[in-house]
Amino acid sequence: MSDIFDETATVESNEAVAVGHCRVRLHAPWIAAAAQPGQFVNVQCGGRTLLRRPFSFSRVVGESFEIVVRIIGEGTRRLSKAKLGDDLPVLGPLGRGFELTGQVKRAVMIGGGCGIGPLEMLGRALIENDVETTALLGCQNQDTLPLNPDELQQIGIETSVAVMTGKGGHVGPVTDLLEEYLDRAASVEGRMLFACGPWGMLRKVAELAEQHEERCQVLLEEMMGCGMGACMSCACEVFLPDGGTTNKKACTDGPMFWADEVNWNARD
Ligand code: FES
Repeated sequence: MSDIFDETATVESNEAVAVGHCRVRLHAPWIAAAAQPGQFVNVQCGGRTLLRRPFSFSRVVGESFEIVVRIIGEGTRRLSKAKLGDDLPVLGPLGRGFELTGQVKRAVMIGGGCGIGPLEMLGRALIENDVETTALLGCQNQDTLPLNPDELQQIGIETSVAVMTGKGGHVGPVTDLLEEYLDRAASVEGRMLFACGPWGMLRKVAELAEQHEERCQVLLEEMMGCGMGACMSCACEVFLPDGGTTNKKACTDGPMFWADEVNWNARD
């Protein structure tokens, strides 16, 4: 495991980026220097919320990192109201991030809702490594998309959007776009799928990856308590080489898992 840093981060910016979502930039030099795509940071959101909340890194800018926050409870509501100059205790980087080896030559990123956040950092790393990259982004409607697709287009990532209702892209689940892509684009050596989003979306991505014999990494968005491997609140069932199953901790064994190691039927 790489080094974990306990820092007091200063809020550098905090802006609404979509309905129910904000993007917070925190100055924390040690964590920013060590953060890898797919890893996360635990943030003490202030007030009476003693538990730190986990947020994936969505971008590193100099000595700061950014997180995309979906506002769903007291902690995230407080974070969404943090002001410039506020100090927040942060711990990270935590968890196992995406595996980016030189063998990845072509990448398809599939993101749903708040799961789009970590794909932004991943996409930038892939482009820096000269990996031809496509992004498929899904959300409820255009107003809830937490990332402007133009930002990915501008750095050379071909990007498509799917919405469940309204306009702004394909109407339907983002996995429709993946299915179309895999049917259209013949498999090439070194292609890798990377996905982050809700369980149902990841399960479908894993199914398509298996059908098309594609390697696929998924970032599990599990409920987390400690974020450090102590409480087991993030347990998820994975397969063992002998076909049996065992529980692993999303916070320390993941949150990145290979799609074919997760038991997607464990929650039926
Ligand atoms: Fe406590 Fe994973 S969040 S063990």
